[in-house]
Amino acid sequence: MKQPLTASPSAALSGRIRVPGDKSISHRALILGALATGITKITGLLEAEDVMATAKAVAALGAELSRSNGAVAVKGQGVGGLRAPSSPLDFGNSGTGSRLMLGVVAGHAMQVEFTGDASLCRRPMGRVLAPLAAMGLETDADEDHARFPFVVRGTHDLLPIVYDLPVPSAQVKSAVLLAGMHAPGRTTVVEPLASRDHTERMLGYFGAEILAEDRGKGARAVTICGDAELHGVSITVPGDPSSAAFIIAAALISPRSDIVIENVLLNPTRSGFLETLREMGAQIELLDRRYDGGEPVGDFRVQASALRGVRVPPDRAPSMIDEYPVLACLAAFAEGETRMEGLAELKVKESDRLSATAAGLVACGVTARVEGDTLIVEGNGAVEGGGLVETHMDHRIAMAFLTLGLGARIPVTVDDTAMIATSFPDFMKLMTKLGAEFR
Ligand code: S3P
Repeated sequence: MKQPLTASPSAALSGRIRVPGDKSISHRALILGALATGITKITGLLEAEDVMATAKAVAALGAELSRSNGAVAVKGQGVGGLRAPSSPLDFGNSGTGSRLMLGVVAGHAMQVEFTGDASLCRRPMGRVLAPLAAMGLETDADEDHARFPFVVRGTHDLLPIVYDLPVPSAQVKSAVLLAGMHAPGRTTVVEPLASRDHTERMLGYFGAEILAEDRGKGARAVTICGDAELHGVSITVPGDPSSAAFIIAAALISPRSDIVIENVLLNPTRSGFLETLREMGAQIELLDRRYDGGEPVGDFRVQASALRGVRVPPDRAPSMIDEYPVLACLAAFAEGETRMEGLAELKVKESDRLSATAAGLVACGVTARVEGDTLIVEGNGAVEGGGLVETHMDHRIAMAFLTLGLGARIPVTVDDTAMIATSFPDFMKLMTKLGAEFR
């Protein structure tokens, strides 16, 4: 059953909040914990549906999970030590969990069926199967058009490869590195533009030998030395910058707002949104920068701001790929045109975010259009609102347009909020705490 919700123009937002743990880091902590020997203790794990699907998958493969004092402990089985699950692995809405786990299963001599919800079953899996098949993974899927559900057969005899990523995707890079960990010799992934690097950082933190090398013009080569051994560690998961983005946006467009968001991940491979906001004239102050669990984190003060339209270059896309829907909503409040270029990857997210975002903006009275892989929004400093926005089973479309509704003249309704639980179950609660109004 769909759960519609309406966001009303809100008074000033104020207060201090912490966003929940980073989704990307949470998936990886569970997966590497399951492949390590000994216990991995994860504090601040994101307890959202996507991450819980990964937790269930690693448990079905033989890792032991328990909870104490707010932390999650994973008793790992060692690299190559997982066992076949007794039923298909269902990843719900999660592209990240499922694609990373394809890399893990590739290195085990077992047959596993992968599946997910209607959104995940529409997303392309050939991009992961192609390099994994070159390493030795077998599948009954047609690689070029592969969609869940399908069966894969892994092997203890994977081959190491050098793989040039055709798209800058952290999920594909991570799947190949996770498989490479189970192969002898060195497996290298070359990415055309640096994508988020949490897998590399965390593999090093767990004790694997991993090297990264700049290849010029933003390209990078990442090499994992195979037959790795991982050892259980303690990890603190920093706050998710992609969740913080909605709260930052809400404060920027709600007049006289002044809020503090604590403990947000500042990893440079995730910082494109903040860079863009600064160019748009946003008043965002970094209050305290520190390290936690091997990642830089900080607190932000955000104040309502007059924004101007900007050009967002295509090479920035990997560092803010999940933030485009909310950036486009912010651009509607800016003065002038915002051009967001190089967004082909947005078409294969939880929904086709390029067309869903443009359609939502138009429904709210904003002039917006898609030209090829570019999204163009004409801002004039204010948004009429009043639309009914279709979310297409996409949590970020739902949150982006609820945020837009807080700053619009007329309330905005999204057709379904159920999927918000996949990444940010406390979204409404935290926003309401700051003064936002939903009904
Ligand atoms: C993620 C990588 C990104 C991002 C997704 C999380 C990850 O996808 O959109 O939400 O944790 O590796 P791609 O790597 O496919 O661009």
